[in-house]
Amino acid sequence: MEHKSDFLIIGSGVAGLLFALKVADFGSVCLVTKKKASESNTNYAQGGIASVFDNLDSFDQHIKDTLSSGNGLCNREVVERVVKEGPDRIRELIDLGVTFNVKDTPLSDRDGVNLDLGREGGHSHNRIVHSQDMTGREVEKVLLDRLKKHDQIMLFENHIAVDLITYSTRMKRGHVTTTHEDFCCGAYALDRENSRVKTFNAKITLLATGGTGKVYLYTSNPDIATGDGIAMGYRAGARVANLEFVQFHPTCLYHPDAKNFLISEAVRGEGGQLVDASGKPFMEKYDPQKDLACRDVVARAIDTELKKSGDQSVFLDISHKASTFIKGRFPNLYENCKKFGFDMTRDPVPVVPAAHYMCGGVVTDMNGQTDIQCLFAVGETACTGLHGANRLASNSLLEALVYADAAAGQAITELKTRDFLMPHISSWDEVGTTDSDEVVMVTQNWDEIRRFMWSYVGIVRSDKRLARARRRAEIILDEIEKYYWDFKVTGDLIELRNLATVADLIIKCAMHRKESRGLHYNIEYPSLDDARWQKDTVLRRPFVG
Ligand code: FAD
Ligand code: SIN
Repeated sequence: MEHKSDFLIIGSGVAGLLFALKVADFGSVCLVTKKKASESNTNYAQGGIASVFDNLDSFDQHIKDTLSSGNGLCNREVVERVVKEGPDRIRELIDLGVTFNVKDTPLSDRDGVNLDLGREGGHSHNRIVHSQDMTGREVEKVLLDRLKKHDQIMLFENHIAVDLITYSTRMKRGHVTTTHEDFCCGAYALDRENSRVKTFNAKITLLATGGTGKVYLYTSNPDIATGDGIAMGYRAGARVANLEFVQFHPTCLYHPDAKNFLISEAVRGEGGQLVDASGKPFMEKYDPQKDLACRDVVARAIDTELKKSGDQSVFLDISHKASTFIKGRFPNLYENCKKFGFDMTRDPVPVVPAAHYMCGGVVTDMNGQTDIQCLFAVGETACTGLHGANRLASNSLLEALVYADAAAGQAITELKTRDFLMPHISSWDEVGTTDSDEVVMVTQNWDEIRRFMWSYVGIVRSDKRLARARRRAEIILDEIEKYYWDFKVTGDLIELRNLATVADLIIKCAMHRKESRGLHYNIEYPSLDDARWQKDTVLRRPFVG
């Protein structure tokens, strides 16, 4: 079965939804998303969106904080653009119907004069625009409601993209192809309800598939975060970069039954303190900014404390604040902690670091354009140059808003001006495949990848650990590749293949960087080495002729 449209969007988080709403007045849109549309990292975002609204704050300060967090690897032009466009993008969300918290008054506040601005690690000023402690849920709900009402957009839930469809213009002109294919014209996607792979043929395709948290055993991310866009982009021949910079969020709830539950950095922004099992604060030993130091510093400090003490967790304590304040500011966190037996208003809450955000991704230019023409990437799946070696808190939703807008603008221009070659696309070939008789291969490898990535490619790395991880990744990739072509694809198999690819790419990037910078810390090279390593780690699939 084939669907044709002007735009194909893969993913329904903030990046995919905003791009869809912006392009839909100019052409037909198919949006495929692998589960229920709201299932995305966006939906779980808590703290908010960083942007300059306070008169005492300035773009320069936000730029400085972003560059400082990114540890020498941010692209300054990108940082300036994202920071300066922030307020406009937030006003746009307000116009679409998103409600953010305001100081003292329940009135909406389009000018931002009265927005309640929270604080998070690495920020020199209060600048986190938020919707209580459920900012992502509010943004996702409003954008999705809008999208469902738009008659130019066809939404395909439970459709998981398998691979991009690319072709070479050089081949078309009769030459021998000597490089990667250079155009994208859509993707194959598995309809999970009837197990059929459909062809989505489009003039312009957007990868908006989010992050890679599920590559690690412990993560704040929901199950969708298996790095599909990065793996698909890499397989298609696009450059990917900086995948060694995996951000570990310092404070996920530690409880055997709490799957992926984050305790927002905003709690520390409101005065919460990290303490050890005896109740003693420890962050002052590690950084002058104490609990509000950048995330790489705080996560490593917790890791050090846990290794020293042998304890299972440290604790986050905000119980000194008034209980009415805690319940009002953090209703979601309060209720969820309570379900697990912790009363934030009275007790310190046990927390541990967990994989949270992928700073690297598919390389794009200032308009979200990848190396492959007609293929854009926006949001966590992209590497724009904003985050460098460590993303500043709450800069991710901001980046997605700014780049969805820029990419949509560029895509609309191309739709109007480009002469599109629409090649014949073969439908998905299942000849020779059978239903899998070895589902255990999928579960076993899935589990193994996540464990060795946690143990060997985590917060603190070493050459020996990385080499061990590399050997295991190679064996698993080989096993998956053989299995993949013999059996009919399933959602689990597609995700496993992507997870293994991304794990392998993270390891390769981490092995390449012989220094410690931002989120990448290798005990064999504990210092920053600007002379040799102040540059991105870039990988591209070798050309297969
Ligand atoms: P996502 O929102 O993850 O959306 C990806 C979409 O792609 C999903 O719909 C998914 O189902 C779909 N998809 C994936 N693969 C496929 C496939 N193969 N086929 C079809 N569909 C596919 N950032 C901030 O700036 N501020 C915060 O306060 C904040 N809090 C966070 C809290 C938590 C718990 C988490 C996990 C993240 C948080 N982040 C925060 C990070 C931020 O939420 C994400 O980086 C951002 O939402 C990513 O948006 P996205 O649109 O790129 O991807
Ligand atoms: C949080 O609320 O702590 C998450 C913020 C982010 O990841 O930017």
